[in-house]
Amino acid sequence: MTDLNTFRAVVAGTGAYLPEKILTNKDLEKSLDTSDAWITKRTGIRERRIAAEGESTSTMAAKAGKQALVDSGIGPKEVDMIIVATSSPDVLFPSTACFVQNKLQAFGSAAYDISAVCSGFIFGLSIAEQYLKTGRYEYILLIGSEVNSRIVDWSDRSTCILFGDGAGALLLKRVEQKNPLGILSTHIYSDGSLSDLISVPGGIGTTGINKQDIDDKKYFIKMSGNATFKVAVKRMADVISEALEFNGLSMEEVGLLVPHQANERIIRAVAERLKYPMDKVFMNIHKYGNTSAASIPIGIDEAKRNGRIQPGAISVLGVVGAGLTWGSAVIKW
Ligand code: ACO
Repeated sequence: MTDLNTFRAVVAGTGAYLPEKILTNKDLEKSLDTSDAWITKRTGIRERRIAAEGESTSTMAAKAGKQALVDSGIGPKEVDMIIVATSSPDVLFPSTACFVQNKLQAFGSAAYDISAVCSGFIFGLSIAEQYLKTGRYEYILLIGSEVNSRIVDWSDRSTCILFGDGAGALLLKRVEQKNPLGILSTHIYSDGSLSDLISVPGGIGTTGINKQDIDDKKYFIKMSGNATFKVAVKRMADVISEALEFNGLSMEEVGLLVPHQANERIIRAVAERLKYPMDKVFMNIHKYGNTSAASIPIGIDEAKRNGRIQPGAISVLGVVGAGLTWGSAVIKW
């Protein structure tokens, strides 16, 4: 495919915010018929963060976003667009991104949310990349933020153990195409025929918020875990392979694989399919659980700060989420 764009998108700064409160597997043993051993063995998760009263998706997003601005040396007035990827918005509308814009005083920007659940961050990266590549905008603040603890049913042991709260952000910047660094590719996909696998099924636009759905706990996450697991491994491995082929890269040339943190067993199975060593796979699921759209930017920020992402290295991102949605991205740092 001929690339007619004059520009490229690079990551100019990163940020993350995790709430202080830690909820361990041992804590969950007190209220659920579960055990630390079961959760650790089946998921790799040992603890997750829980937003405090007064914290929300927008407050966490603003903190992560501010850190990305500071890291990049860009002022809030220079930001052209704010994209927040979330499936746990503060309210149905206005968008969480508008609240974030207000908190950051970034009033020169267009601000909006995108909904692709766990894949939201890579979908957002793909959107941001297009605006920067064509030269339309110069600075885009992309944030993934979730307060999953408020949309899980804390009596459902098969889902509530998996999720956590947090936010991560990247400040993306337009540079000349001749610059060899930045976002090398994004690939995103959806399959709506699999929408029943993971959903918050309670009616809003269909039936209106209604007592029956509230009583049936339909405003919380429902998931067919086992079926999702099988689909997730294949889709994530395939879309990462597609990204490598698109860029003419081999797995050996990838410095770090940053997969969505949904389940350690999924991550290990993906690495096995790709024949990729686990010591070059980023994992922090033991500390944070599945933070949906925030998982990948939190991972990138942590890997950068820990020196696991070095200048000139190539990272591959991969994700699968509700929808079904899935995607990958390749970044040269
Ligand atoms: N503690 C103890 N036992 C449990 C727990 C628990 N927390 N949860 C379920 N069990 C039980 C089940 O009831 C079942 O018991 P049974 O055999 O008596 O019926 C048994 O454990 C096995 O249940 P499975 O669902 O088959 O367990 P599985 O090994 O599949 O693990 C899990 C479940 C962890 C949810 C796994 O399927 C998974 O991680 N799936 C993928 C999740 C995912 O990737 N989601 C996508 C992203 S989410 C998003 O986009 C919003």
